[in-house]
Amino acid sequence: MSDISSLQSDILAQVSAVGDEAALEAVRVAALGKKGSISELMKTLGAMSPEERKTQGPLLNGLRDAVTEAIAARKSSLGDAALEARLASEKIDVTLPPRAEGKGSVHPISQVLEEITAIFADLGFAVAEGPDVEFDDYNFTKLNVPPDHPARQMQDTFYVAAQADGTSHVLRTHTSPVQVRTMLNQKPPIRVISPGRAYRVDSDATHSPMFHQVEALVVDEGIHLGHLKWTVEEFCKAFFEIDKIELRARPSFFPFTEPSLEWDMRCDRSVPGQIKFGQGDDWLELGGSGMVHPRVLANCGIDPARYQGFAFGFGLDRMAMLKYAIPDIRSFFESDLRWLKHYGFAALDIPTLDGGLSK
Ligand code: DAH
Repeated sequence: MSDISSLQSDILAQVSAVGDEAALEAVRVAALGKKGSISELMKTLGAMSPEERKTQGPLLNGLRDAVTEAIAARKSSLGDAALEARLASEKIDVTLPPRAEGKGSVHPISQVLEEITAIFADLGFAVAEGPDVEFDDYNFTKLNVPPDHPARQMQDTFYVAAQADGTSHVLRTHTSPVQVRTMLNQKPPIRVISPGRAYRVDSDATHSPMFHQVEALVVDEGIHLGHLKWTVEEFCKAFFEIDKIELRARPSFFPFTEPSLEWDMRCDRSVPGQIKFGQGDDWLELGGSGMVHPRVLANCGIDPARYQGFAFGFGLDRMAMLKYAIPDIRSFFESDLRWLKHYGFAALDIPTLDGGLSK
């Protein structure tokens, strides 16, 4: 009896004396492990007479329970203390500026995307999105591109293996299918832009198999070419950050617009490696546009007798290359940190019209 209580106070003293969880575990094994002092005592119960067992059993169980409880309590307080110590040692001051060598920068494509979004948000446009793997129907058919149209030929389009449900998909060849998605889901008035990735089988200094476009779509009553022209002009002035620009519209053809126009901007490229906008004798291609074809409106459930729309699709990589004098489109996607350090933007400067787009 006195053996048991002295063993108990002995073990409890050890439990409270340990300084860490490893030492506590050693005390636990020495007492309660297979060959531990308490386990050895428990084994003697079997050889006892029934009377002896009646008195010794509860005493030994009490010893085992008291020690088990004390170890559990100590373990949780040691754990709390270890966590406190770790939190104290790993404390970081989030108000400190980042170290120069660890500072990330914003990729020019992301920067340009933010700039374009800021410009159009100011004009009342929302951002619409669609998937990169798109229904053939949305990428082509609903946009009035018939099945035998040359744009569908294998050399342009990345096709995706046929689906079990019979639908066919492509990697979208332009951001125009987001027009379809928007019109199918929204009633006019519609004012959206959709910046995003597009894919074509093409690769050289000015073409990448994966590239970026920004699409704009406006659908309402009484929309005409004048609205398109004004929007393109305002956008270019804001994006290139110059008040005086000169745009030229050339007649063109796209199956999804009628009439269709392509836009060029006057520029001066007489000094090699330099480009100046709003002057000179050169013209720079911005992209395609037009009045949304009545058949496209009807395909998307919008009454062409009541509503008109305009749309344009400009190359985002091209615009980034022009604005920030980046010579090769492929460098955007090479993930070269030295390149990113040179062409990247400060991470926390969000482009806004009043704060400055490119600062
Ligand atoms: N989707 C066309 C392309 O990738 C560009 C384009 C032309 C988009 C006219 C439009 C548009 O929205 O109206 O070449």
